[in-house]
Amino acid sequence: MKTLVLLGAGELGKEVVISAKRLGCRVVAMDSYPGAPAMQVADAFEVVNMLDGDALDRAIRLHARPGPGFHIIPEIEAIRTERLITLEKEGFDIIPSARAVFLTMNRDAIRDVAARKLALPTARYGYASSVAELGSRILSQDGTGLPCVVKPVMSSSGKGQSVVRDRADIPKAWDYACANMRGDQQKVIAEEFIDFDYEITLLTIKQRASVGGKKLPKAARTLFVRPIGHRQERGDYQESWMPCAIKPSLVKDAQRMAKLITDEIAGENGAGIFGVEFFVKGNRVIFSELSPRPHDTGMVTMISQDLSEFDLHVRAILALPIPEIRYEKAAASAVILATHASPNEPEYPGLEKALAIPGVQVRIFGKPSTRKYRRMGVALAIAKTADEARKAATKAAAAVKVKTVP
Ligand SMILES: Nc1ncnc2c1ncn2[C@@H]1O[C@H](COP(=O)(O)OP(=O)(O)O)[C@@H](O)[C@H]1O
Ligand SMILES: [Mg+2]
Repeated sequence: MKTLVLLGAGELGKEVVISAKRLGCRVVAMDSYPGAPAMQVADAFEVVNMLDGDALDRAIRLHARPGPGFHIIPEIEAIRTERLITLEKEGFDIIPSARAVFLTMNRDAIRDVAARKLALPTARYGYASSVAELGSRILSQDGTGLPCVVKPVMSSSGKGQSVVRDRADIPKAWDYACANMRGDQQKVIAEEFIDFDYEITLLTIKQRASVGGKKLPKAARTLFVRPIGHRQERGDYQESWMPCAIKPSLVKDAQRMAKLITDEIAGENGAGIFGVEFFVKGNRVIFSELSPRPHDTGMVTMISQDLSEFDLHVRAILALPIPEIRYEKAAASAVILATHASPNEPEYPGLEKALAIPGVQVRIFGKPSTRKYRRMGVALAIAKTADEARKAATKAAAAVKVKTVP
């Protein structure tokens, strides 16, 4: 039996567990708090601070060994990734590769690979380690200019991210980024604000060099899911949909870039799914960032197609065939967010209203407590068109209330 060790036990991990269990795997889920979504469906769990290298190392060695049969699957960015590099050298299988996980944890590391090494088009950008330096990265002649977006180099889900429209707001953006960054490095990236027409996630699958006992030609190792359109607020995803209206030539551009960067970071035999994010403006496709794991906007694939991003991830990891992906007409997802903080597990009145809408399904993640804007569930819908699916998913998400219990 294969053992998967999930580093991070959120809602995306929960779906990875379900996909893996269906294929007969044993799964261990780790996170910093008990009762995390993926722990609820896994065979075993560990409560570990994964930023503590020794604790992370100990927990992984307790459940996995080097060589085939064990796979270590990072599901979040807040992990002491240097340790994964050491473990990989010893022969542990890190998904998709320790280098990919390491590089994507820091915005500067992956941006350097994308823009400098691979010459992918990106927003103009610069890094800063002080408020004075930030000012010059924005305002100097080769700077980003205004407006721009300031983000901690280590953060996710829009944490610490703000838009600077006026030079007087630079100190505020610096303070906000510093107050919300992860890790010990006081460093931010400033990016030219791209007034894009829309943004997409291109889910990109890297298969093993050999699948189902057969060697795959190099070009056949990369597969793509159809582009997913999405809308973000506060740097966090609100809804996503498929199909996304985009010219075939622009899809080709995005696929070419996604293949380049995943080839670069996945290594010789690295496998798994990547969420590659692009902005589209007119005929320009601009690379933004990527995650070496299932993507939150990709939750729509739970309803848009027969093999979800989680099924695809697990098949790629286990070197199982992916002969085809079969799509529904149109599909959408919309998030269900908490409105305030509570240490208690909430209730979800309104679920019956949401589920009375034809074509709608709801996933409640089962998180044991709430924070303002914490993602607690997602509404999914299929319909004839993407617009109709978006309407149904949004209506369903609005119907479900996150009611905190005193
Ligand atoms: N340079 C930019 N121009 C315009 N919008 C941006 C820019 N950078 C980020 N955003 C918006 O913020 C969202 C989150 O930013 P992103 O860099 O993807 O951070 P995260 O790692 O938190 O997802 C993006 O999906 C996009 O909507
Ligand atoms: Mg993003």
